[in-house]
Amino acid sequence: MRSLIKLSLRIFICLIIVSCSGEKEADKYKIGFSQAMTTDNWRKEMNKSMRVEASMHPDLELEIKDAGNHIAKQITQIDDFIQEKVDVLIVSPIQSIPITPVIEKAMNAGIPVIVIDRKIEGRNFTAYVGANNIEIGRNAAKYIISHSENEATIIEITGQEGSSPAHERSIGFKNTLDSVPELQITYSIKGDWEKASIKDRLSSLLDTVKTPDYIFCHNDRMAMGAWEVARSKSLEDDIKIIGVDGLFGPNGGIQMVKDGLLDATLLYPTGGAEAIKMASDLIQGENINKYNILRTVVIDSVNVDIMQNQFDKMNQQQNDIEQQQAVIDEQIETYNSQSALIRIMIVLLLLLLFLTGWSIYLVVRIKKSKRELEINNKKIIVQRNQIENFAEKLKVSNESKINFFTALSHEFKTPLTLITSSIESIADRPNKELKGISHETNLIINNSRRLLRLINELLDFRKLENGTYNIKPVKTRIVPFLKNIVDDFRSEAVKRSVKLNFCPGNEDMEVYIDRDMMDKVFFNILSNAFKFTPKNGNILVAVNESENEVSIIFKDSGIGIPKEEFKRIFDPYMQGSNNLKPSSGLGLFISKQFVELHEGSISVSSHQGAEFKISIPKGKAHFKDVDVSEIETDFQSSTSYKLPETIPAEEPGNVALDKNAETVLIIEDNTDLSYVLKKKLSTDYHVYLSDGTDGIEKALEIIPDVIICDLNLPTKNGFEICGELKSDLRTSHIPTIILTALDDKESRLKALKAGADTYITKPFNYEILRESLKSALYNREKLRYYYTNRIDEVKDEHFENAEQNFLKDLNAFIDENLRDPDFSVEELAGKLNISRVQLYRKVKALLGISISEYISAQRLNKARNLLQQSDMNISEIAYEVGYSSPGYFSTSFKNKYGISPKQLKS
Ligand code: FRU
Repeated sequence: MRSLIKLSLRIFICLIIVSCSGEKEADKYKIGFSQAMTTDNWRKEMNKSMRVEASMHPDLELEIKDAGNHIAKQITQIDDFIQEKVDVLIVSPIQSIPITPVIEKAMNAGIPVIVIDRKIEGRNFTAYVGANNIEIGRNAAKYIISHSENEATIIEITGQEGSSPAHERSIGFKNTLDSVPELQITYSIKGDWEKASIKDRLSSLLDTVKTPDYIFCHNDRMAMGAWEVARSKSLEDDIKIIGVDGLFGPNGGIQMVKDGLLDATLLYPTGGAEAIKMASDLIQGENINKYNILRTVVIDSVNVDIMQNQFDKMNQQQNDIEQQQAVIDEQIETYNSQSALIRIMIVLLLLLLFLTGWSIYLVVRIKKSKRELEINNKKIIVQRNQIENFAEKLKVSNESKINFFTALSHEFKTPLTLITSSIESIADRPNKELKGISHETNLIINNSRRLLRLINELLDFRKLENGTYNIKPVKTRIVPFLKNIVDDFRSEAVKRSVKLNFCPGNEDMEVYIDRDMMDKVFFNILSNAFKFTPKNGNILVAVNESENEVSIIFKDSGIGIPKEEFKRIFDPYMQGSNNLKPSSGLGLFISKQFVELHEGSISVSSHQGAEFKISIPKGKAHFKDVDVSEIETDFQSSTSYKLPETIPAEEPGNVALDKNAETVLIIEDNTDLSYVLKKKLSTDYHVYLSDGTDGIEKALEIIPDVIICDLNLPTKNGFEICGELKSDLRTSHIPTIILTALDDKESRLKALKAGADTYITKPFNYEILRESLKSALYNREKLRYYYTNRIDEVKDEHFENAEQNFLKDLNAFIDENLRDPDFSVEELAGKLNISRVQLYRKVKALLGISISEYISAQRLNKARNLLQQSDMNISEIAYEVGYSSPGYFSTSFKNKYGISPKQLKS
């Protein structure tokens, strides 16, 4: 859904962009105009006419740069237009020579250049537009000629030197007057197109010379200056002044003619509109003329009115055009904004349509999903009801089962207590009566108590689960209380060679505890410590005190607990990954609950062993709604939590047995069970014990006839031990009986995969174990028979069975060395990579005879074949089978076969 919203938003933004981009005007052609200056009206008129014309061409964009009559500035501005790559460049040069190179540069850059009004040097430009200034000079001269009857003197006031109009106007003027000797240019003043440049000089000239008849000024502005000077000298009626430009409007040449200030003016059109038209033509790719000469005309009193009228009309039209243009521009703008608005509206409309469609689709979909959901909901409700019913039934049945087991557990307590107390009273009798059974009574007491403890644990767990455990705190001196418990473990510590240290701290420290609970907690933690601390390890119990609490620390040097299990270790049924020993998994859970009922805490850490810390708050304020007893009575911990008096567990000795009796290795960490097994099996077998820590080493050392192995063992488990023994040539032949509490299919399968021969689960029937032992040995006997009687067949085959392969290798080595009388058992063992003793035991186990007997049998067997099948004499045969003395060979042969070699040969 979110992605769909994102998508539609993106579409919307794209549409808006597209619709707005429609507003962007198409790229326009750029015309750059470099204007020489804009100080006078003639130039302003030129710019205006250009702008008006450009506005008629919507595809054109005009930019005017004003050089302010500075040559360097004009060059820079033209350069900028070149950089900009304008489409057409129009230049009105200030002067010809300095501006020529930069115009050539533009031409070289491929930009067409239109030169307007003033010219440049040479012809390297695209087009020129302007009036013929020679003709203007000529027309001025002609005007004077036609209006003079006699001689007349003339002063010429020229435009700026270096600009083409000034130069050309002068040429045209002079050349024409040259043909009329009566008319003389008596003086020439060099102006710069502005009146200020000539007024002083003209004034002083008029003071010194005869008043001229005519003054020809190269433009109207200087002509105005001349008139002002003449007037100042009251000569205005005596001097006829002629100007150039003929601008329309106030202060323009036409107005001056009309006002009688000037005699005449020569119309000098700006050519602005024409230049833009030509630029447009160039852009359109049309051909244009290189020289576009504008028409000029003399305006004097005769035609000034007509001219003014015409200009008036033109001006009127120009203004109309400008107004219309403004209206058009406004309309275009309105059109543009409206069309943008319409586009946006269309987009919005489309979006609206899309969203409407989408909403309809969503509504339909939601309705459909709702229907499906309702159906599913109904199904779920039905299922939930069924589950609830089922759960209710299950709860009831579970509850009744748990109640049944709880009741049963309670029931167990009585007979177990009876058994314990009865056997304790038996154990208390004078020692002589118990001679021989003291250890068994101890076993019974020990295990009955263990059972009782487990049952109590179960009942405590149940009570805690139901929340029916009531705490009964009693004021207690914690150190003596704890010492009692620690002391109970002293004999256990001695038996296991574990160093048990108690650091009591302040003996008078008092806390309020439920003694029964804390007795169980401390016992549990301490017995765990013993469970996981190896021989010669350390256990430390310490009591520390702070302002608000008392902490009891139990630290052992056992295998420790992985960090990730610190929290879970207190969960019910939790079995630590390091803990291979059988356990209910309730002890630590119950301990934690008990400590928490005291508002205390229990935590574990592990660094070279495990460390449990129990903290109990001082005082009694934390016990709310609980009766607290202040009377410190003696505390007797319950018998089930007492460790039994340890009667030294002498290992039952092996009774006198036939030295050929088979050997059994029992790998079992429960010393009680291994004690019982050894005692029972010792009547028939040589029994060896391993607590699991050295099972493989013992098996390799003894090479027993049978191995009985537990699965849950401290260092390596039974699967690993069995697997290793079965894959070792030295022990692979030994039948292995697994004796375990694990009754699941997976464990059975795993054990069989590891090579176990028999799998018996605890509790087991001793007779079954005995029979299993017998049948394992009998099977081995059968194999032995097979190997000894079909030994020749073992030669060339490839066997899956490790034993057969072993025999094949053995026979091959013996065969290879049969001729060597010094071939020893050591050498043979070396070749087979096992020790002499292991070879002896393996061969004995597999074949029932010693290895040396086997080698001899092989020698004599071969000798018998040779006697029967070869022509060799007896001595030769004796040497062939490795006898150094033929006599000794004959004796040995007769001993084995009851017939001498000689007799057999004949
Ligand atoms: C304007 C002007 C005109 C003159 C022209 C010659 O700046 O001085 O009066 O006719 O330039 O280029």
